[in-house]
Amino acid sequence: MKHQIAVFASGNGSNAENLIAYFKKNNFAQVGLVLTNNPNAGVIARANRLKTPVCVFSKKDFQDSNKILEVLNEYQIDWIVLAGFLLLFPENILKRYPNKIINIHPALLPKYGGKGMYGMHVHKAVIENNETETGITIHFVNEKYDDGKVIFQAKTVVESNDTPEDIAKKIHKLEYKWLPKVIEKQIKKGETL
Ligand code: GRF
Repeated sequence: MKHQIAVFASGNGSNAENLIAYFKKNNFAQVGLVLTNNPNAGVIARANRLKTPVCVFSKKDFQDSNKILEVLNEYQIDWIVLAGFLLLFPENILKRYPNKIINIHPALLPKYGGKGMYGMHVHKAVIENNETETGITIHFVNEKYDDGKVIFQAKTVVESNDTPEDIAKKIHKLEYKWLPKVIEKQIKKGETL
């Protein structure tokens, strides 16, 4: 049986789509479910197009009930990937999936992480601080924002005339290249533990 991955996303979902497509070509894992707290998220149409089930949930169900755990059980999910997911993960899910929940952050943590540091806010802050490089961080999720153990980082150059949109493009390129590979490697590593 293939390892089952659930992807949580709150927005556009291009990383979610890239993960679904990558694992469709793969015999040993698949994205079995996409979950979102945002009924208007672009990720819904992307998942539908790729025939991947979607669960839309409320913030209250996520934070104050076991409903999401029940859905994850129903789909026999064993790994969770957060790709542009904006809510803090609750304790009940963290406990059920120790070292099995992975986030992608669009900066070189510990820089430019924490509450409010997402999307364009991150890239604007990078420019305001005259950084000459930025990048992506793939890390385990714990009870704080952008705080768990780092699994992987990759860097890109920030040119002096780069706009936040230019940086977003460079970051997405890195994310599409590395996130599926790092997740695959991590699942394989988890198998042999
Ligand atoms: C990505 O840059 C990811 O690192 C961040 O949010 C962005 C989501 O983009 N956490 P998309 O929704 O996958 O297009």
